[in-house]
Amino acid sequence: MSNLPAFGIDLGTGNIKIYNNMDGTILREKNMIAVMKKDTLLAYGDDAYDMYEKAPANIRTSFPLNNGVIADIKDMQTVLKCFITDLTAKQKYSGADFFLSVPKDITEVEKRAFFDLISDANVKAKRIMIVDKAVADGLGLNVDVKTSQGMLVVNSGFDTTEISILSLGGIVLSKLIKIGGRKFDEAIIGAVRREYSLIIGEKTAEKVKIQLSSPDYDDTVPPVVYGRDIETGLPVERQIPVELIESALNENINIIIDNIKVILERTPPELAADVYRHGIYLTGGSASLRNFGKLINKGTNLKVNLAEDPVSTVALGLARVIKEEHYRSVAYSIDGMSPR
Ligand SMILES: Nc1ncnc2c1ncn2[C@@H]1O[C@H](COP(=O)(O)OP(=O)(O)OP(=O)(O)O)[C@@H](O)[C@H]1O
Ligand SMILES: [Mg+2]
Repeated sequence: MSNLPAFGIDLGTGNIKIYNNMDGTILREKNMIAVMKKDTLLAYGDDAYDMYEKAPANIRTSFPLNNGVIADIKDMQTVLKCFITDLTAKQKYSGADFFLSVPKDITEVEKRAFFDLISDANVKAKRIMIVDKAVADGLGLNVDVKTSQGMLVVNSGFDTTEISILSLGGIVLSKLIKIGGRKFDEAIIGAVRREYSLIIGEKTAEKVKIQLSSPDYDDTVPPVVYGRDIETGLPVERQIPVELIESALNENINIIIDNIKVILERTPPELAADVYRHGIYLTGGSASLRNFGKLINKGTNLKVNLAEDPVSTVALGLARVIKEEHYRSVAYSIDGMSPR
């Protein structure tokens, strides 16, 4: 390993997380770009998200990743380049090693696109290494993923939920499904519209979802939302019963549980025995969702271990790959590819 700086990047569809080994910090921002008149960069990250759902027609705000894969490589490169420039602004920067986590269940072509993304982003990448996202999750949870002990990781993020069985530093089985925080928000928007002819925005839906997911939330106080009444067209405020939101969320949670069961059915018996002993590990921002862990426990009869910092677990795992020689072997390069 060179003495070059290294970055551990978890490119999420909702949030980008970058571990920086020069100061040991993890940057966490919205993975979003705001562009004016075709290609004038206006804002990126959280600043772009502030404009989301509020921008006039000549400003385009978008998420460069979609369903776990790159939707717009140019936008993604711009966002990445801006963050790396910010992170290296205060020192002489002559290049770095990049460790990138990617979902397992994507095609080789999609995986290569992640590699190209970094090699072409103008960030002076010296080496680009890939780490399977679930393996990074395991390390971020402080589990020794290199042993033969089987581990079931469920990472529920923004566009996706990835369900994986790990053993010996690799992935035995995995499934990426297109359900995550965004679907939960949409379910809330749909239910409020159906029941109250009220249109609310994604940010409002997410706020209510997070509010209700807090362990301190007082269930006797229904959340209040602001939106537009379909019939009158006027802005209104309205209380929404907790039960309505719960049932909207549960439909999606149940699909995830069904998929966990499918993975469990396919898990080799010795690994299944390990999963039975240790339970399921739940990570990703949506891990904190109301009733999620409880319903998985009910649906599978397995204990559920919730990550301490679910949004940053993957980045914490990448940090360990960068810092701990012992775990370097879980990172791999893509054959025949080296940075240009
Ligand atoms: N306390 C909370 N309760 C419920 N949901 C939450 C909470 N905190 C964050 N979230 C949700 O977590 C999601 C973001 O999580 P995360 O950063 O892990 O996703 P991502 O990595 O960007 O997405 P993906 O892994 O699917 O590409 C958002 O949808 C957000 O609403
Ligand atoms: Mg993620």
